[in-house]
Amino acid sequence: MKVIPGNTKLPELHRILLTSVAPRPIALASTIDKTGNPNLSPFSFFNIFGVNPPTLIFSPSRRGKDNTTKHTFENLKEIDEVVINTVSYSMVEQISLSSSDFDKGVDEFIKAGFTKIESELVKPFRVKEALVQFECKVKEIIETSQLPGAGNLVICEILMIHINDQALNDKGFPDQNKLDLVGRMGGNLYNRTIDSSQFEVVKPLEYPGIGIDVLPNYIKGSDLLTGNELGKLGSVREIPDQDRIDILTENLNVVINDKNAFKIARELLNEGKSLDALCVLLKIKK
Ligand SMILES: Cc1cc2nc3c(=O)[nH]c(=O)nc-3n(C[C@H](O)[C@H](O)[C@H](O)COP(=O)(O)O)c2cc1C
Repeated sequence: MKVIPGNTKLPELHRILLTSVAPRPIALASTIDKTGNPNLSPFSFFNIFGVNPPTLIFSPSRRGKDNTTKHTFENLKEIDEVVINTVSYSMVEQISLSSSDFDKGVDEFIKAGFTKIESELVKPFRVKEALVQFECKVKEIIETSQLPGAGNLVICEILMIHINDQALNDKGFPDQNKLDLVGRMGGNLYNRTIDSSQFEVVKPLEYPGIGIDVLPNYIKGSDLLTGNELGKLGSVREIPDQDRIDILTENLNVVINDKNAFKIARELLNEGKSLDALCVLLKIKK
């Protein structure tokens, strides 16, 4: 299937994009209007885009159905400050409630049962229940168009970060499991970031990986290996020489042959022993 955005109805395009670009982190944005009315709403068009200066961007978009703008966007045009609060699993029903289309001036802190606390550097309040709160100054708002569904990119510089001590690990950094952040997926789906949904991918940063392209054809072309497995093999520092291949495979105490090499290599890859796996596969060199 191919989709040309210009030929696609907005609700369909919206659904395709929000399901395909997921999971998205959620900003619970606290703003204030010029008369001092607080506003609180969640936004999943949100991410971090730089560390120096520390930059967050989120988008309170134009509504697709009637092209109206969100209170958050209108408030930011009046007072260019925002507190972006993180969203843990324990808060998800309340943030969903805060996303209702309440009338202008309705305080979603009260509606959704969140506790206001004063910020130190900006006027909007922080959400006490959020384990991390970013006090931000708005640097720029980019309106991608005036059409229904258009994004309004709110570019924010973080002035101060508050982290609840309960979310810290013993080294004093935020702990992913304690934060228990949620992400937004398509439709009504969300995801959690704790435990079983996490896995580790070792960064090939200390040295460049050899690359899948330099693996022999019988390895890179094999339908016995997945893309992830080839990725691990291509991440090793160098092609092992014959001595290394012989020593490693002797230590395995199994006779490596065409029949068992791929099975043994996959087991080693599963254990994180990529170089050993490559030695096993190179032992049956063709
Ligand atoms: C988890 C979640 C994420 C959302 N993400 C966005 C978003 O990125 N952009 C947007 O315009 N609306 C988003 N919405 C909808 C707004 O929260 C909703 O329109 C809200 O009423 C806006 O409030 P406001 O008018 O007080 O600013 C999201 C809703 C939920 C529940």
